[in-house]
Amino acid sequence: MYDALFSPLQIGNHTVRNRFCFPSVGLPFDADPRTGGPLENRLQQYEAVAAGGTGLIVVGITAVQKNARLRTGEFGLWTDRQIDLFRPLTEAIHRHGALTTVQLHHAGARVMPEVCRERVAPSPIPGYGARAMTLAEVQRLRDDFIAAARRAQLAGFDGIELHAAHGYLLSLFASPRYNHRADRYGGSLENRVRLQTEILQGARQVCGPDFILASRIGGNEPTYAEGVQIAKLLEQVGADYISVSFGLDDHYDLDTPYWRPTPAPDWFDGNAVTYGASVVRQSVRIPVVAVRSICTAKRGEWLLENGHADLIAYARPMLTNPDFVNRIRNGVHPATECLNCGACRWFTNPAACPIERKHGRDIYAALHTARDGT
Ligand SMILES: Cc1cc2nc3c(=O)[nH]c(=O)nc-3n(C[C@H](O)[C@H](O)[C@H](O)COP(=O)(O)O)c2cc1C
Ligand code: SF4
Repeated sequence: MYDALFSPLQIGNHTVRNRFCFPSVGLPFDADPRTGGPLENRLQQYEAVAAGGTGLIVVGITAVQKNARLRTGEFGLWTDRQIDLFRPLTEAIHRHGALTTVQLHHAGARVMPEVCRERVAPSPIPGYGARAMTLAEVQRLRDDFIAAARRAQLAGFDGIELHAAHGYLLSLFASPRYNHRADRYGGSLENRVRLQTEILQGARQVCGPDFILASRIGGNEPTYAEGVQIAKLLEQVGADYISVSFGLDDHYDLDTPYWRPTPAPDWFDGNAVTYGASVVRQSVRIPVVAVRSICTAKRGEWLLENGHADLIAYARPMLTNPDFVNRIRNGVHPATECLNCGACRWFTNPAACPIERKHGRDIYAALHTARDGT
């Protein structure tokens, strides 16, 4: 049963034990704001997901500069002092046989005021108070991404995934709607993706051939055809896998609510985000990760068997059931318990998730106790 989902896959020079992926999920309190290192409750949750049987874990958004954080509770790898903080996390994941990449991130125009008052973007975005980055700042950021990749390697990660989707900084660069630069980082598609390609090339040089390099892109950014071109450029410079989520297009801008779907063509039997994965999958040779409301083992198996993807990411299914994969293997319950609420509570308060309530869980219980002094 579910032979495709339980078959191994080669990613770069690594073998992942099955096709299940826990994609990047950044929570309000991933890190100690003073250090950027993982809090114990999050470490335990990642360990539970690894023990639950998944093949690949992408550790949530991790800032490459202190002022690049979305919020102060985001992980960070902006200084060498943070390397040791992540070792217990990578060791815990490896102990249970999963591979792990870490999602490197700059929040761009979405940096919250609690982090820093100044917001940057490829070009000014007046509604967000974001100013254009200078050329020197872009090149400094490229070097900081590369340095963070090396730190990730020293911390024990098997690789990195660039967060270049969802309207964050690398996604803004890719978007002709938000990138009006006249230098080598704006204009043509090659130029708009140059920051990503230069990061991957630089990371390959410092991290060597065995380190997994990847990007999460918006398959629809700014059109599905260009999403494919972006994926091909990333493959050409040595990406080992591409994860396809959503980006900025005619239908989705920075102000659009997160869960609003971009329509998929009527003939595609799936949602717009998995459609993006499918079109990229037809055009590249490296593994492609599909995500978004896949919900069941049956659906994941169908995507794999029909050549729409190579790995299947289940985010909310594994948040609510860290043992999601073993439950499927043991025939316990091959579907998510997640109720697909309009706005997922895990973005703000995981304890308000109806499934967490049903199971009487609160991943921040220890944190509340420490804060309350009780
Ligand atoms: C609480 C929460 C936090 C998320 N954080 C990230 C993130 O840090 N980086 C990212 O690329 N996607 C993030 N996502 C999106 C997920 O990786 C995934 O694409 C999305 O939840 C759809 O998959 P699902 O239907 O399996 O949950 C987040 C989603 C949730 C619910
Ligand atoms: S809050 Fe709702 S959408 Fe989010 S994981 Fe829980 S049940 Fe699913």
